[in-house]
Amino acid sequence: MIRLGVNIDHVATLRNARGDAYPDPVDAAKLAIQWGADGITAHLREDRRHIRDADMPRLKALTAPLNFEMAATAEMVRIACLLRPHACCLVPEKRAEVTTEGGLDVAGHKEILAPKIARLRDAGIRVSLFIDPDTKQIETAAELGAPVVELHTGAYAHGKGGELERLHHAAGTVADCGLELHAGHGLTYDNVPPIAKLPGLAELNIGHFLISEAVFSGLGPAVRKMKYLINCP
Ligand code: PXP
Repeated sequence: MIRLGVNIDHVATLRNARGDAYPDPVDAAKLAIQWGADGITAHLREDRRHIRDADMPRLKALTAPLNFEMAATAEMVRIACLLRPHACCLVPEKRAEVTTEGGLDVAGHKEILAPKIARLRDAGIRVSLFIDPDTKQIETAAELGAPVVELHTGAYAHGKGGELERLHHAAGTVADCGLELHAGHGLTYDNVPPIAKLPGLAELNIGHFLISEAVFSGLGPAVRKMKYLINCP
């Protein structure tokens, strides 16, 4: 079974748009879990544009594992070590970007990342690195001692030619390096089936489409349908 992590950031985007307390991302997370989500993902951004600090312990208290998406900054490492979520996914973060536009350049930032990964691992947190499907990035992730990589599927989702082949090749490299394979970004009902067939895939993290679809079908049915699509033969 491929696990489905539901990213609830954009429930918080909607909440913050009006400055009220609703919709509560924690209520959305509870619903997603009831309808089959295997985990909840939340990105505490430096600018707190969606998820806020006070959301994190409430998400951690739920029954499904929490995947804390974060930039590799001293502030976020400190927050994560206090919170001790099940997992931390290190992502690149630029204030001006609309979303996480590309993978983390782990090969170019080894010295900065090594002590942060070690600190998170010492706190008992499973560390995952959000990277592009690139051999050098995957091999560096293994060298840095991260047990998991999440491959960025954004270019594939935007229809860039050759990306599915690139992801397949990368999945082989991930297996050769002995790492656990996750993937995510820009996935929808239509484009997820080929990604769910990547050899060795353990987990998908999906957010924006599911929250958008919730407007039409409700979040529970959207999660259930996605869970079915990623696991159907
Ligand atoms: N995985 C990671 C590491 C991400 O940064 C994001 C986007 O925040 C996602 C998965 C989910 O992407 P989307 O919201 O496009 O489904």
